[in-house]
Amino acid sequence: MRCPLQLQGSKPKVTMKLCIVVGARPNFIKAAPIITAIKKYQKKYPDLTYFLIHTGQHYDENMSEVFFKEMGIPMPDFHLKIGSGAHGKQTGEMIGQIEEILIAEKPAMLISIGDTNSTLAGALAASKLHIPVAHVEAGLRLFNKHIPEEVNRLLTDHVSDLLFVPTKLAKDNLLKEGMKSATVCLYGDIMYDATLQFNKVADKTSKIVERMGLTSKNFILATVHRAENTAGIEQTTRILDAFVQIGKDLQVVMPMHPRTKHLLQENKLFDHYAAGITIIDPIGYLDMLVMEKHARLIVTDSGGVQKEAFFQDTPCVTLFENSPWQELIDLGWITVVPPKSTEAIVKGVKKALKNKKGGTGSPYGDGNCGELMIKKIISFLNGDKKGKKGKEE
Ligand code: UD1
Ligand code: UDP
Repeated sequence: MRCPLQLQGSKPKVTMKLCIVVGARPNFIKAAPIITAIKKYQKKYPDLTYFLIHTGQHYDENMSEVFFKEMGIPMPDFHLKIGSGAHGKQTGEMIGQIEEILIAEKPAMLISIGDTNSTLAGALAASKLHIPVAHVEAGLRLFNKHIPEEVNRLLTDHVSDLLFVPTKLAKDNLLKEGMKSATVCLYGDIMYDATLQFNKVADKTSKIVERMGLTSKNFILATVHRAENTAGIEQTTRILDAFVQIGKDLQVVMPMHPRTKHLLQENKLFDHYAAGITIIDPIGYLDMLVMEKHARLIVTDSGGVQKEAFFQDTPCVTLFENSPWQELIDLGWITVVPPKSTEAIVKGVKKALKNKKGGTGSPYGDGNCGELMIKKIISFLNGDKKGKKGKEE
Protein backbone atom coordinates (compact mmCIF):
# COMPACT_ATOMS: atom_id res chain seq x y z
CA MET A 1 0.00 0.00 0.00
CA ARG A 2 1.35 3.39 -0.95
CA CYS A 3 1.49 6.00 1.72
CA PRO A 4 -0.57 9.17 1.17
CA LEU A 5 2.49 11.34 1.64
CA GLN A 6 4.21 9.68 -1.28
CA LEU A 7 1.02 10.07 -3.35
CA GLN A 8 1.18 13.78 -2.73
CA GLY A 9 4.80 13.74 -3.83
CA SER A 10 6.30 15.14 -0.63
CA LYS A 11 9.35 13.48 0.89
CA PRO A 12 9.14 11.92 4.36
CA LYS A 13 10.93 14.09 6.93
CA VAL A 14 14.47 12.90 7.65
CA THR A 15 15.17 12.49 11.34
CA MET A 16 18.63 13.62 12.31
CA LYS A 17 18.63 12.66 15.95
CA LEU A 18 22.10 11.47 16.91
CA CYS A 19 23.12 9.49 19.95
CA ILE A 20 26.67 9.99 21.25
CA VAL A 21 28.07 7.41 23.68
CA VAL A 22 30.92 8.32 26.03
CA GLY A 23 32.24 6.75 29.21
CA ALA A 24 35.98 7.21 29.69
CA ARG A 25 38.33 10.21 29.81
CA PRO A 26 39.49 10.08 26.18
CA ASN A 27 35.86 9.68 25.01
CA PHE A 28 34.88 12.95 26.70
CA ILE A 29 37.80 14.86 25.20
CA LYS A 30 37.08 13.59 21.69
CA ALA A 31 33.33 14.24 22.05
CA ALA A 32 33.83 17.95 22.77
CA PRO A 33 34.74 19.06 19.20
CA ILE A 34 32.03 16.80 17.76
CA ILE A 35 29.42 18.52 19.91
CA THR A 36 30.82 21.91 18.91
CA ALA A 37 30.38 20.90 15.26
CA ILE A 38 26.81 19.68 15.84
CA LYS A 39 25.94 23.01 17.47
CA LYS A 40 27.33 24.84 14.45
CA TYR A 41 25.31 22.77 11.97
CA GLN A 42 22.12 23.06 14.02
CA LYS A 43 21.83 26.65 12.78
CA LYS A 44 21.44 25.40 9.22
CA TYR A 45 19.66 22.12 10.07
CA PRO A 46 17.18 22.66 12.91
CA ASP A 47 16.22 18.96 12.72
CA LEU A 48 19.75 17.99 13.73
CA THR A 49 19.59 17.03 17.41
CA TYR A 50 21.62 14.81 19.68
CA PHE A 51 21.53 13.20 23.06
CA LEU A 52 24.47 12.05 25.14
CA ILE A 53 24.83 8.77 27.02
CA HIS A 54 27.56 8.56 29.71
CA THR A 55 28.12 4.92 30.64
CA GLY A 56 29.88 5.83 33.90
CA GLN A 57 32.95 3.75 33.05
CA HIS A 58 35.00 6.62 34.51
CA TYR A 59 33.40 8.32 37.49
CA ASP A 60 35.95 10.10 39.72
CA GLU A 61 35.55 13.88 39.55
CA ASN A 62 38.99 14.25 37.96
CA MET A 63 38.36 11.42 35.46
CA SER A 64 34.94 12.60 34.30
CA GLU A 65 33.18 15.73 35.55
CA VAL A 66 36.21 18.00 35.12
CA PHE A 67 36.12 17.47 31.34
CA PHE A 68 32.43 18.34 31.08
CA LYS A 69 33.07 21.56 33.01
CA GLU A 70 36.29 22.64 31.29
CA MET A 71 35.28 21.72 27.76
CA GLY A 72 31.70 22.98 28.00
CA ILE A 73 30.25 19.54 27.27
CA PRO A 74 26.55 19.56 28.19
CA MET A 75 25.63 17.25 31.05
CA PRO A 76 24.71 13.75 29.79
CA ASP A 77 21.05 13.11 29.03
CA PHE A 78 21.50 9.57 30.37
CA HIS A 79 24.03 8.58 33.02
CA LEU A 80 24.25 4.80 33.39
CA LYS A 81 26.63 4.81 36.39
CA ILE A 82 28.02 1.39 35.41
CA GLY A 83 31.38 1.93 37.14
CA SER A 84 34.39 -0.39 37.11
CA GLY A 85 34.34 -4.15 36.69
CA ALA A 86 35.46 -7.13 34.68
CA HIS A 87 35.34 -6.36 30.95
CA GLY A 88 32.52 -8.77 30.05
CA LYS A 89 30.27 -7.73 32.92
CA GLN A 90 30.98 -4.04 32.48
CA THR A 91 30.46 -4.09 28.70
CA GLY A 92 27.39 -6.33 28.97
CA GLU A 93 25.69 -4.04 31.47
CA MET A 94 26.40 -1.08 29.23
CA ILE A 95 24.92 -2.83 26.17
CA GLY A 96 21.73 -3.74 28.04
CA GLN A 97 21.11 -0.23 29.29
CA ILE A 98 22.08 1.49 26.04
CA GLU A 99 19.72 -0.83 24.16
CA GLU A 100 16.77 0.25 26.30
CA ILE A 101 17.55 3.91 25.68
CA LEU A 102 17.95 3.40 21.93
CA ILE A 103 14.60 1.58 21.71
CA ALA A 104 12.90 4.46 23.51
CA GLU A 105 14.71 7.34 21.81
CA LYS A 106 15.01 5.94 18.28
CA PRO A 107 18.06 7.89 17.11
CA ALA A 108 18.88 7.95 13.41
CA MET A 109 22.54 7.22 14.08
CA LEU A 110 24.86 6.40 16.98
CA ILE A 111 28.34 7.88 17.27
CA SER A 112 30.95 5.76 19.05
CA ILE A 113 34.34 7.29 19.74
CA GLY A 114 37.75 5.72 20.28
CA ASP A 115 38.39 2.23 21.62
CA THR A 116 37.10 1.87 25.15
CA ASN A 117 34.56 -0.66 26.42
CA SER A 118 31.98 2.15 26.21
CA THR A 119 32.82 2.58 22.52
CA LEU A 120 32.17 -1.08 21.81
CA ALA A 121 29.01 -1.23 23.93
CA GLY A 122 27.42 1.68 22.06
CA ALA A 123 28.30 0.26 18.65
CA LEU A 124 27.03 -3.25 19.45
CA ALA A 125 23.77 -2.07 21.01
CA ALA A 126 22.99 0.13 18.00
CA SER A 127 24.00 -2.35 15.35
CA LYS A 128 21.77 -5.09 16.83
CA LEU A 129 18.87 -2.65 16.52
CA HIS A 130 19.86 -1.79 12.92
CA ILE A 131 20.70 1.75 13.92
CA PRO A 132 23.60 2.97 11.74
CA VAL A 133 26.88 3.51 13.57
CA ALA A 134 29.59 6.11 12.96
CA HIS A 135 32.97 5.24 14.48
CA VAL A 136 35.26 8.16 15.22
CA GLU A 137 38.95 7.13 15.26
CA ALA A 138 38.40 4.03 13.15
CA GLY A 139 41.06 1.82 11.60
CA LEU A 140 43.81 1.95 14.24
CA ARG A 141 45.53 -1.41 14.61
CA LEU A 142 48.38 -2.82 16.66
CA PHE A 143 47.76 -6.36 15.36
CA ASN A 144 47.59 -7.92 18.82
CA LYS A 145 44.21 -9.16 20.00
CA HIS A 146 45.44 -9.48 23.59
CA ILE A 147 45.25 -5.69 23.85
CA PRO A 148 41.71 -4.93 25.10
CA GLU A 149 41.44 -1.78 22.99
CA GLU A 150 42.37 -3.73 19.84
CA VAL A 151 39.32 -5.98 20.30
CA ASN A 152 37.12 -2.93 20.88
CA ARG A 153 38.46 -1.22 17.74
CA LEU A 154 38.12 -4.26 15.52
CA LEU A 155 34.58 -5.08 16.54
CA THR A 156 33.39 -1.47 16.50
CA ASP A 157 34.81 -0.93 13.01
CA HIS A 158 33.20 -4.06 11.67
CA VAL A 159 29.67 -3.09 12.75
CA SER A 160 29.99 0.54 11.68
CA ASP A 161 28.52 2.25 8.63
CA LEU A 162 30.67 5.39 8.65
CA LEU A 163 34.33 4.91 9.52
CA PHE A 164 36.06 8.18 10.34
CA VAL A 165 39.76 7.36 10.17
CA PRO A 166 42.39 9.73 11.61
CA THR A 167 45.22 8.80 9.23
CA LYS A 168 46.04 7.33 5.85
CA LEU A 169 47.50 4.29 7.60
CA ALA A 170 44.22 3.70 9.46
CA LYS A 171 42.36 3.92 6.16
CA ASP A 172 44.72 1.39 4.58
CA ASN A 173 44.18 -0.96 7.53
CA LEU A 174 40.43 -0.90 6.95
CA LEU A 175 40.69 -1.33 3.21
CA LYS A 176 42.91 -4.38 3.78
CA GLU A 177 40.18 -5.80 6.01
CA GLY A 178 37.74 -5.41 3.10
CA MET A 179 35.28 -2.94 4.59
CA LYS A 180 32.82 -3.31 1.74
CA SER A 181 29.67 -2.40 3.65
CA ALA A 182 30.86 0.90 5.12
CA THR A 183 32.14 4.27 3.95
CA VAL A 184 35.67 5.14 5.03
CA CYS A 185 36.25 8.88 5.49
CA LEU A 186 39.68 10.42 6.04
CA TYR A 187 39.02 13.88 7.46
CA GLY A 188 41.75 14.11 10.13
CA ASP A 189 42.16 13.44 13.83
CA ILE A 190 39.52 14.63 16.28
CA MET A 191 42.14 15.14 19.02
CA TYR A 192 43.85 17.71 16.82
CA ASP A 193 40.53 19.61 16.67
CA ALA A 194 40.32 19.43 20.47
CA THR A 195 43.88 20.65 20.98
CA LEU A 196 43.38 23.61 18.65
CA GLN A 197 40.04 24.42 20.25
CA PHE A 198 41.35 24.40 23.83
CA ASN A 199 45.03 25.40 23.64
CA LYS A 200 44.34 29.14 23.83
CA VAL A 201 42.08 28.90 26.84
CA ALA A 202 44.54 26.49 28.47
CA ASP A 203 47.42 28.95 27.99
CA LYS A 204 45.34 31.74 29.49
CA THR A 205 43.85 29.94 32.45
CA SER A 206 46.11 27.10 33.56
CA LYS A 207 48.61 27.99 36.26
CA ILE A 208 49.81 24.44 36.88
CA VAL A 209 53.44 25.06 35.91
CA GLU A 210 53.75 28.01 38.31
CA ARG A 211 51.69 26.30 41.01
CA MET A 212 53.95 23.26 40.97
CA GLY A 213 57.12 25.39 40.88
CA LEU A 214 58.22 23.83 37.59
CA THR A 215 60.51 25.41 35.01
CA SER A 216 59.56 25.12 31.37
CA LYS A 217 61.47 22.36 29.53
CA ASN A 218 63.02 21.21 32.77
CA PHE A 219 60.84 18.20 33.65
CA ILE A 220 59.54 14.99 32.16
CA LEU A 221 55.78 14.43 32.02
CA ALA A 222 54.89 10.75 32.46
CA THR A 223 51.66 8.76 32.37
CA VAL A 224 51.19 4.99 32.70
CA HIS A 225 47.85 3.20 32.76
CA ARG A 226 47.63 0.59 29.98
CA ALA A 227 46.45 -2.83 31.14
CA GLU A 228 49.70 -4.34 29.85
CA ASN A 229 51.72 -2.04 32.14
CA THR A 230 49.50 -2.12 35.21
CA ALA A 231 47.97 -5.59 35.39
CA GLY A 232 50.80 -6.88 37.58
CA ILE A 233 52.96 -5.05 40.09
CA GLU A 234 56.21 -6.46 38.58
CA GLN A 235 55.66 -4.68 35.27
CA THR A 236 54.62 -1.44 36.96
CA THR A 237 57.67 -1.44 39.25
CA ARG A 238 59.90 -2.10 36.24
CA ILE A 239 58.66 1.20 34.79
CA LEU A 240 58.53 3.22 38.01
CA ASP A 241 62.04 2.11 39.04
CA ALA A 242 63.20 3.61 35.74
CA PHE A 243 61.36 6.87 36.52
CA VAL A 244 63.06 7.04 39.94
CA GLN A 245 66.49 6.61 38.31
CA ILE A 246 65.74 9.20 35.62
CA GLY A 247 64.27 11.52 38.26
CA LYS A 248 67.69 11.86 39.91
CA ASP A 249 68.77 13.98 36.89
CA LEU A 250 65.50 15.46 35.65
CA GLN A 251 62.26 15.76 37.63
CA VAL A 252 59.57 13.29 36.55
CA VAL A 253 56.00 14.54 37.05
CA MET A 254 53.36 11.86 36.87
CA PRO A 255 49.62 12.56 36.92
CA MET A 256 48.68 9.08 38.06
CA HIS A 257 45.70 7.16 36.69
CA PRO A 258 43.60 5.69 39.55
CA ARG A 259 44.26 2.20 38.24
CA THR A 260 48.03 2.64 38.72
CA LYS A 261 47.56 4.35 42.08
CA HIS A 262 45.35 1.56 43.42
CA LEU A 263 47.92 -1.02 42.38
CA LEU A 264 50.71 0.80 44.22
CA GLN A 265 48.53 1.27 47.30
CA GLU A 266 47.49 -2.40 47.36
CA ASN A 267 51.17 -3.33 47.30
CA LYS A 268 52.11 -0.65 49.86
CA LEU A 269 54.50 0.92 47.37
CA PHE A 270 52.89 4.31 46.82
CA ASP A 271 55.02 6.21 49.37
CA HIS A 272 58.16 4.49 48.14
CA TYR A 273 57.65 5.76 44.59
CA ALA A 274 56.28 9.15 45.66
CA ALA A 275 59.71 9.81 47.22
CA GLY A 276 61.44 9.68 43.81
CA ILE A 277 58.69 10.70 41.38
CA THR A 278 56.44 13.77 41.61
CA ILE A 279 53.15 11.86 41.66
CA ILE A 280 50.00 13.96 41.37
CA ASP A 281 46.32 13.09 40.90
CA PRO A 282 44.94 13.05 37.35
CA ILE A 283 44.69 16.62 36.07
CA GLY A 284 42.11 18.38 33.89
CA TYR A 285 42.52 18.69 30.14
CA LEU A 286 43.59 22.36 30.22
CA ASP A 287 46.34 21.66 32.76
CA MET A 288 47.37 18.60 30.75
CA LEU A 289 47.75 20.57 27.53
CA VAL A 290 49.95 23.09 29.32
CA MET A 291 52.04 20.40 31.00
CA GLU A 292 52.55 18.69 27.65
CA LYS A 293 53.73 21.95 26.12
CA HIS A 294 56.20 22.76 28.90
CA ALA A 295 57.64 19.27 29.37
CA ARG A 296 61.06 18.58 27.93
CA LEU A 297 60.01 15.05 27.12
CA ILE A 298 56.79 13.06 27.51
CA VAL A 299 57.05 9.41 28.53
CA THR A 300 53.74 7.59 28.24
CA ASP A 301 51.79 4.50 27.29
CA SER A 302 48.69 6.57 26.50
CA GLY A 303 47.41 6.39 22.95
CA GLY A 304 46.23 9.99 23.03
CA VAL A 305 49.04 11.63 25.00
CA GLN A 306 51.75 10.42 22.59
CA LYS A 307 49.97 12.21 19.74
CA GLU A 308 49.25 15.34 21.78
CA ALA A 309 52.99 15.49 22.49
CA PHE A 310 53.48 16.18 18.78
CA PHE A 311 50.67 18.78 18.73
CA GLN A 312 52.41 20.50 21.64
CA ASP A 313 55.87 20.33 20.04
CA THR A 314 57.33 17.97 22.64
CA PRO A 315 59.16 14.72 21.84
CA CYS A 316 57.71 11.49 23.21
CA VAL A 317 58.89 8.09 24.39
CA THR A 318 56.14 5.50 24.04
CA LEU A 319 56.29 2.76 26.66
CA PHE A 320 54.54 0.05 24.69
CA GLU A 321 55.36 -2.66 22.19
CA ASN A 322 54.28 -0.42 19.32
CA SER A 323 52.43 2.78 18.48
CA PRO A 324 49.37 3.32 16.30
CA TRP A 325 50.93 6.62 15.19
CA GLN A 326 53.50 5.30 12.74
CA GLU A 327 53.64 8.69 11.01
CA LEU A 328 55.10 10.22 14.19
CA ILE A 329 57.69 7.47 14.46
CA ASP A 330 58.63 8.21 10.84
CA LEU A 331 58.87 11.95 11.54
CA GLY A 332 61.03 11.28 14.59
CA TRP A 333 58.63 12.58 17.28
CA ILE A 334 57.88 9.22 18.88
CA THR A 335 60.52 6.77 20.06
CA VAL A 336 59.00 3.41 20.92
CA VAL A 337 60.69 1.84 23.93
CA PRO A 338 59.07 -1.50 24.80
CA PRO A 339 59.15 -1.47 28.62
CA LYS A 340 60.74 -4.88 29.03
CA SER A 341 63.30 -3.87 31.66
CA THR A 342 64.16 -0.89 33.85
CA GLU A 343 67.54 -0.61 32.10
CA ALA A 344 65.94 -0.50 28.63
CA ILE A 345 63.59 2.30 29.72
CA VAL A 346 66.35 4.38 31.36
CA LYS A 347 68.54 3.94 28.29
CA GLY A 348 65.69 4.77 25.88
CA VAL A 349 64.68 7.90 27.79
CA LYS A 350 68.26 9.17 28.17
CA LYS A 351 68.82 8.68 24.45
CA ALA A 352 65.58 10.48 23.58
CA LEU A 353 66.61 13.43 25.78
CA LYS A 354 69.70 13.87 23.60
CA ASN A 355 67.80 13.59 20.29
CA LYS A 356 66.78 16.57 18.21
CA LYS A 357 63.09 17.32 17.72
CA GLY A 358 61.24 15.48 14.96
CA GLY A 359 60.62 16.78 11.46
CA THR A 360 57.72 18.89 10.25
CA GLY A 361 54.53 17.44 8.87
CA SER A 362 50.77 17.63 9.37
CA PRO A 363 49.44 14.09 9.21
CA TYR A 364 46.27 14.81 11.24
CA GLY A 365 44.26 17.11 9.01
CA ASP A 366 43.35 20.76 9.38
CA GLY A 367 41.65 20.74 12.77
CA ASN A 368 38.16 20.77 11.24
CA CYS A 369 37.44 17.06 11.09
CA GLY A 370 34.57 17.33 13.61
CA GLU A 371 32.73 19.57 11.17
CA LEU A 372 33.51 17.35 8.19
CA MET A 373 32.20 14.33 10.10
CA ILE A 374 28.91 16.02 10.98
CA LYS A 375 28.51 17.22 7.40
CA LYS A 376 29.02 13.64 6.23
CA ILE A 377 26.56 12.27 8.79
CA ILE A 378 23.93 14.78 7.61
CA SER A 379 24.36 13.74 3.99
CA PHE A 380 24.35 10.05 4.98
CA LEU A 381 21.07 10.48 6.83
CA ASN A 382 19.65 12.40 3.90
CA GLY A 383 19.99 9.53 1.55
CA ASP A 384 23.51 9.05 0.31
CA LYS A 385 23.51 5.62 1.98
CA LYS A 386 22.76 3.86 -1.26
CA GLY A 387 25.56 3.29 -3.71
CA LYS A 388 28.14 4.93 -1.47
CA LYS A 389 28.93 1.92 0.68
CA GLY A 390 32.42 0.63 0.36
CA LYS A 391 33.50 4.00 -0.97
CA GLU A 392 36.30 6.09 0.38
CA GLU A 393 36.44 9.82 0.91
C1 UD1 B 1 40.06 2.68 29.99
C2 UD1 B 1 40.12 2.14 28.57
C3 UD1 B 1 41.44 2.53 27.93
C4 UD1 B 1 41.69 4.01 28.04
C5 UD1 B 1 41.53 4.48 29.48
C6 UD1 B 1 41.62 5.97 29.53
C7 UD1 B 1 38.95 0.03 28.21
C8 UD1 B 1 39.09 -1.43 28.03
N1 UD1 B 1 40.07 0.68 28.56
O1 UD1 B 1 41.11 2.04 30.72
O2 UD1 B 1 41.41 2.18 26.56
O3 UD1 B 1 42.99 4.29 27.61
O4 UD1 B 1 40.25 4.07 29.98
O5 UD1 B 1 41.98 6.45 30.75
O6 UD1 B 1 37.88 0.56 28.06
N2 UD1 B 1 39.15 3.77 38.21
C9 UD1 B 1 38.86 4.60 39.25
N3 UD1 B 1 38.11 5.71 38.98
C10 UD1 B 1 37.63 6.00 37.77
C11 UD1 B 1 37.92 5.14 36.72
C12 UD1 B 1 38.69 4.02 36.95
O7 UD1 B 1 39.27 4.39 40.37
O8 UD1 B 1 36.95 7.04 37.60
C13 UD1 B 1 40.01 2.58 38.47
C14 UD1 B 1 39.22 1.37 38.95
O9 UD1 B 1 40.00 0.70 39.88
C15 UD1 B 1 39.14 0.53 37.67
C16 UD1 B 1 40.44 0.87 36.97
O10 UD1 B 1 40.69 2.22 37.28
O11 UD1 B 1 38.99 -0.82 37.93
C17 UD1 B 1 40.42 0.67 35.48
O12 UD1 B 1 39.35 1.42 34.89
P1 UD1 B 1 38.72 0.97 33.48
O13 UD1 B 1 37.76 1.96 33.04
O14 UD1 B 1 38.30 -0.46 33.54
O15 UD1 B 1 39.98 0.94 32.54
P2 UD1 B 1 41.09 2.04 32.28
O16 UD1 B 1 42.39 1.45 32.69
O17 UD1 B 1 40.69 3.33 32.85
N1 UDP C 1 44.59 13.52 30.15
C1 UDP C 1 44.18 14.49 31.06
N2 UDP C 1 44.65 14.42 32.34
C2 UDP C 1 45.51 13.47 32.77
C3 UDP C 1 45.94 12.50 31.82
C4 UDP C 1 45.45 12.53 30.54
O1 UDP C 1 43.41 15.37 30.71
O2 UDP C 1 45.88 13.46 33.94
C5 UDP C 1 44.07 13.58 28.79
C6 UDP C 1 45.13 13.69 27.73
O3 UDP C 1 45.46 15.04 27.53
C7 UDP C 1 44.47 13.06 26.52
C8 UDP C 1 43.57 12.02 27.14
O4 UDP C 1 43.43 12.36 28.51
O5 UDP C 1 43.67 14.00 25.83
C9 UDP C 1 44.18 10.67 26.99
O6 UDP C 1 43.51 9.79 27.80
P1 UDP C 1 44.17 8.51 28.41
O7 UDP C 1 45.64 8.60 28.44
O8 UDP C 1 43.48 8.28 29.69
O9 UDP C 1 43.66 7.38 27.40
P2 UDP C 1 44.16 6.86 25.99
O10 UDP C 1 44.42 8.01 25.11
O11 UDP C 1 45.37 6.03 26.24
O12 UDP C 1 43.03 6.01 25.53
